[in-house]
Amino acid sequence: MEVVIATHNRHKVEEILDIMSGLEIELLSLDSFPEIGEIVEDGDTLEDNARKKARTVYNATGILSLADDTGLEVAALGGRPGVYSARYSGEHATYEQNNLKLLGELKGVPAEKRTAKFRCVISIIGNGIDEIAVGEVPGRIIDEVRGNNGFGYDPLFMADGYDITYAEMDSETKNSLSHRARALERAKTILKDLAGGNRTA
Ligand code: IMP
Repeated sequence: MEVVIATHNRHKVEEILDIMSGLEIELLSLDSFPEIGEIVEDGDTLEDNARKKARTVYNATGILSLADDTGLEVAALGGRPGVYSARYSGEHATYEQNNLKLLGELKGVPAEKRTAKFRCVISIIGNGIDEIAVGEVPGRIIDEVRGNNGFGYDPLFMADGYDITYAEMDSETKNSLSHRARALERAKTILKDLAGGNRTA
């Protein structure tokens, strides 16, 4: 069975290859399909965006497709930035600008009210197949950036049960507990069932 990973992001492709290793599945990246251009993420939810990406790639290739979308949901901000996490402080925002905006919006909010969660949604689309796998990590937003690893909101996010941020973890540790790892483990079970014929349209 072949599966196309609907992302151009090398970092994601490698993480997915790592977690899916051992499956009787040939994983292809979008690099094999240069005719598929950038897919605009204009949905209202993470589910909409993940589905749109997987559906677009499936329609173009005819091969089972897997896409993810992730957001940081901050309780004190009513769940923002959520689906807008990448462009929280503007269309071409840098990670640093987004982190500064988040710190600004949470200024004066006490530690116990700074709860947040990372939510990763994976869509798997194929012929008559429309599956969703979700991975969440609850935690909190600290009041200064800490750590140099990772990307995005990593320097501000501390997962429950840890006193270091995602950006202070080595990549192996983060990838063993992250929202994306949790969603991918669920996606792996779905792909295993599909490959084994245990789950059909
Ligand atoms: P995407 O859907 O994976 O592209 O993620 C959207 C945005 O969420 C990114 O631009 C990052 O700002 C943020 N994000 C996603 N995953 C992570 C993560 O593992 N750590 C920190 N930020 C993340």
